[in-house]
Amino acid sequence: MPRPVIEPFRIKVVEPIRLTTAGERAELLARAGYNLFAIPAEEVIVDLLTDSGTGAMSAEQWAAMMRGDESYAGARSYFRLEEVTHQLTGMPFVFPTHQGRAAERILCAVVPLQGKVVLSNGLFDTTRANVEAAGATGIDLPDPEALTGHRPFGGDADLAALDAALERHAGNVAFVVMTVTNNTMGGQAVSMENLRQVSRRCRERGIPLVLDACRFAENAYRIWKDEPAGRGPTLEATARALFDLADVFTMSAKKDGIVNMGGLLGMRDPALAERIRVNLILTEGFVTYGGLAGRDLEAMAQGLREVLDEHYLEYRFAAARYLARKLEEHGFPVVQPAAAHAVYVDAGAALPHLASDDLPGQSLACALYLAGGVRTCEIGNLMFGAGERRQLVRLAIPRRVYTQSHVDYVGWVAGEVARVRHRLPAMRVLQEPPSLRHFSAAMRPVEPFPAFDVDGAA
Ligand code: F0G
Repeated sequence: MPRPVIEPFRIKVVEPIRLTTAGERAELLARAGYNLFAIPAEEVIVDLLTDSGTGAMSAEQWAAMMRGDESYAGARSYFRLEEVTHQLTGMPFVFPTHQGRAAERILCAVVPLQGKVVLSNGLFDTTRANVEAAGATGIDLPDPEALTGHRPFGGDADLAALDAALERHAGNVAFVVMTVTNNTMGGQAVSMENLRQVSRRCRERGIPLVLDACRFAENAYRIWKDEPAGRGPTLEATARALFDLADVFTMSAKKDGIVNMGGLLGMRDPALAERIRVNLILTEGFVTYGGLAGRDLEAMAQGLREVLDEHYLEYRFAAARYLARKLEEHGFPVVQPAAAHAVYVDAGAALPHLASDDLPGQSLACALYLAGGVRTCEIGNLMFGAGERRQLVRLAIPRRVYTQSHVDYVGWVAGEVARVRHRLPAMRVLQEPPSLRHFSAAMRPVEPFPAFDVDGAA
């Protein structure tokens, strides 16, 4: 018998979960304009909205926080973070920032972008927004079968499309961004071979390659397991090889740094580092703290050490696979193979009676909340606007927070929703802001949601 994969930690601090009733949730959701971002977190039973900043820190991270050096300049905590980051990435210049998008904003402020293009396997929405705010156009070149091919490295860039774009925009490409793992493409991993190919093309043309590295550990583990020609002698060496292929990295440490707040920006070019130093001081603070407290730097340094633990990553992928299996058992198609940080349900396929502009993803996300207080995130036409694309719902898994019985509960909720999924209503947007509308739009269902009679315990 194979060894069961267990959570490789035990729990020292707990936070109570309030068990709301179906009636309370119906009222809360209507009051929130059917927008799950507007639901107070206390009214959520299992929160799968994001894996960003929602992880549980280890005893070693809390202990490191007590050692935080809060000096304005040259804090000991900075040097510890710098050492860990150098070892991990090999980048000679590393700056802390308050989160990932701050690193993106600073990079986009110091690289000339007006009228240029930025090519990518898939820009995350904040990266795209920063690139476009600086006057460039972001162009995604994902594997066209990323969400349907069920291949282990669906996050790869489409090399033929990249070659064509490099030709078409010759002399006008500011940089190329490879997002590992590729969040907007079902959280799929990028293969070492694909990254090598992209890196070679960039180096031949003198175009900087930027790694959006916020889920680098999960990506490295996928390579370690599934790409024999891409893996290094150790998991650390495999992760390091990803960075070796890039010139710059941005990182939201709220993901694989396992901290609640923090980011990093690293690079090889001393001239670029100098420009970044100047810009960073304008907005994030002095270069040795970058908008964070000394204790945050300590927690990040420790988190970056812990994340490459093989048993932790094995458990993380096993947890996502387990959740994916539960959802499939109830007839919800999911993007395969399941990523580690999230499982993506194809809501368009699960709710075929709804067109893309009926927002099937949002309807499903609302139903999961109504049936069991499970909060998820629509990644479809509510997030990106009208158009034909896959209508996904992301069930993101916070790091080290939920146990297998929470996942069983989510599976049960999915079962309750599955029974009425053909009756889930179309959603209409009533009010929306000019950009990033999914955070604050108000909506209504065209028909009432089915009632969920779920309050008795088993
Ligand atoms: N890049 C990727 C691939 C991301 O997934 C995120 C954040 C960022 C950059 C920005 O980092 O939030 O620290 O400023 N993703 C979160 C999510 C919000 O839910 O996937 P940030």
